[in-house]
Amino acid sequence: MTNDLIRRSDSDGIALLTLANPPVNALGLAVRQRLAALTADLEADESVRAVVLAAEGRVFVGGADIAEFDRPPEAPHLPDLIAAIEASRKPWIAALNGAALGGGAELALGCHYRIFANTAWLGLPETSLGLIPGAGGTQRLPRRIGLELAIAVIAAGRTLSATEAREAGLANRIAVGDPIAEAREAGLANRIAVGDPIAEALAFARTLEGALPPPASAAPLADPGPAFWDEARARTAKAARGNPAPAAALEAIRVGVAEGFAAGLRAERESFLRLRASDEAAALRHLFFAERAALRPAALRGIEPVPLTRAGVIGGGTMGSGIAAALAAAGLEVRLAETGPEALAAGLARIEAIFEAQVQRGLTDRAGAAERMARVAGTVGLGALADCDLVIEAVFEDLAVKRRVFEELVRLCGPEAILATNTSYLDPERIVEGLPHPHRFIALHFFSPAQVMKLLEIVPLTATAPRTLATGVALAARLGKIPVQAGNGEGFIGNRILKRYRAEAEALLLAGATPAEIDQAMRAFGLGMGPFEMQDMAGLDIAFRAREAARALGQDLPEGPGDRLVRAGRLGRKSGGGWYDYAPGSRLPQPSPDAAALIAPFVTPGPRPSGDGIAHRLIAAMAEEGQRICDEGLAQSPSDIDLVEVHGYGFPRHKGGPMFHAARRAQARKDGE
Ligand code: NAI
Repeated sequence: MTNDLIRRSDSDGIALLTLANPPVNALGLAVRQRLAALTADLEADESVRAVVLAAEGRVFVGGADIAEFDRPPEAPHLPDLIAAIEASRKPWIAALNGAALGGGAELALGCHYRIFANTAWLGLPETSLGLIPGAGGTQRLPRRIGLELAIAVIAAGRTLSATEAREAGLANRIAVGDPIAEAREAGLANRIAVGDPIAEALAFARTLEGALPPPASAAPLADPGPAFWDEARARTAKAARGNPAPAAALEAIRVGVAEGFAAGLRAERESFLRLRASDEAAALRHLFFAERAALRPAALRGIEPVPLTRAGVIGGGTMGSGIAAALAAAGLEVRLAETGPEALAAGLARIEAIFEAQVQRGLTDRAGAAERMARVAGTVGLGALADCDLVIEAVFEDLAVKRRVFEELVRLCGPEAILATNTSYLDPERIVEGLPHPHRFIALHFFSPAQVMKLLEIVPLTATAPRTLATGVALAARLGKIPVQAGNGEGFIGNRILKRYRAEAEALLLAGATPAEIDQAMRAFGLGMGPFEMQDMAGLDIAFRAREAARALGQDLPEGPGDRLVRAGRLGRKSGGGWYDYAPGSRLPQPSPDAAALIAPFVTPGPRPSGDGIAHRLIAAMAEEGQRICDEGLAQSPSDIDLVEVHGYGFPRHKGGPMFHAARRAQARKDGE
């Protein structure tokens, strides 16, 4: 029933409005209609002195109803609702029980007062969806908290905790409950709710008398001058990586400062409506929904994951150290197992270095890093893993070595412990073949660096139980990663597409495009790096050795330019050159006449691919391989392919992934006909 979306109850002349639109109290059309009607009623109702706007559940308001963005906007529009609240003769007090995001934050900004729960927070994440705040956020926030901080929130996705909001002058009060309970939860104060913001807001409302404070829209804001804006523009563009929204948000703020609130609102609305209809926003919405679906797979609904407290990681190399760091950062107790004291010391040192780098980058502080490290215990051999709830194997990519590890694990661990392999190319079925309690085996394929990359490919084996799979998905969520379920085919999803992508890059090379032209085309498309620079960084020798091994087994692999480079000692950056030359100590790729001479004999005559044509061919190859993977049932949907490329391989987010991009292009071609 529509009426239930916002409940009204009055006492002592104070109207309490409670939003109840689960799961996140989004401001969809029906909610806006109800709020518009209530606002008019309350204004006309002489018995009402003040209004408390509250919400049910764990979130205040999660924002607009994003699904509506694929249709034209429908009245009543949020900016008008907020303007009406701000213009009310009666005080409106927002009681924030939890996150106030996007339109929810703007709604709170339109109220005359804000009371935060200690766990409440505020953010304007619109730019991550290719939009800007569209209901006055770019105008009211700077007038409440100052330009610098507002730009960080609006254009760079910074969020404000209750305490930060209080310091910035945005929260009038933080609801503080029972001081004893609060003291007990010290250290967890941001996670455990103490105090009731609604009770606090009602009490606050009763104390209000006299004139309302001036609204945010009336606050003056001084223009800091062109140098400030130039610097802000440069910083914003750099962080945006091709997403046009942050720059547009900054511009709306600037117009509001230079020309006043009304002009700023107009600029904001104009940009918002333009961006709402853009390809980039459609791509970012697509990923938003794909990510949400990946984190809550329909097939696993109602299946409880195994609760995890202690996790074992076997192997402290590149992957194991990153995985252990990710687990410890997420609060798990970690045991890192290695073969001997030296390898163990090296593994622990790698983890320590990861946490140190996190301090340098401001991701945690010294105390946080020390806490993380304290959760990691090193051990030689596997004995100490016996009581782990989960063990992730990341030893050498060698079937016999991995099998021995799993044979020992099944002897040590209980039958319910989840045992996972991080193999890239081995068949996980063969690693655990014939071992008991196969329902708890799974492949969890992390990406390097594992403490950074958001993708986790989850590969169930034939005997894997749904509960084991659900645990993998829950683990990804806990680590802040995006889980993608992949079928057990060679290279799973990501590395199979990578192989195809590299083959296509080589085909372009043989058609006469240079490595520099191909890399440049992919960077122009939005990737951080092109395929040849990437190979130079990783080293050409690994793939070469794999090809040589296949040749030794009788496979007919014709000699290619990559083989010639390695035979000439060009292994990549580490040898001073590969597809490019590198000055000593430099990472800057320089076109290489020597490499060109080695490539030249392979080039076939014909039209040379260039620019956009190069990028289109490479993306089309990825999409084609992705479609095949879907057709073979190895991926659950095309959007899962997009998640793999965006979160595992640096595909530009605002292009939505290869499948989305290819479908969009095909549609545009059809529309153009
Ligand atoms: P690595 O060579 O850096 O590390 C392997 C570590 O395992 C070494 O420190 C070694 O001492 C240890 N180890 C070997 N046998 C052991 C045993 N029986 N018990 C305890 N520790 C043992 O290798 P890396 O790159 O970390 O790869 C590990 C696994 O992760 C491989 O299966 C690889 O295919 C996979 N992988 C690698 C990725 C990468 O980018 N390097 C990405 C995703 C998966």
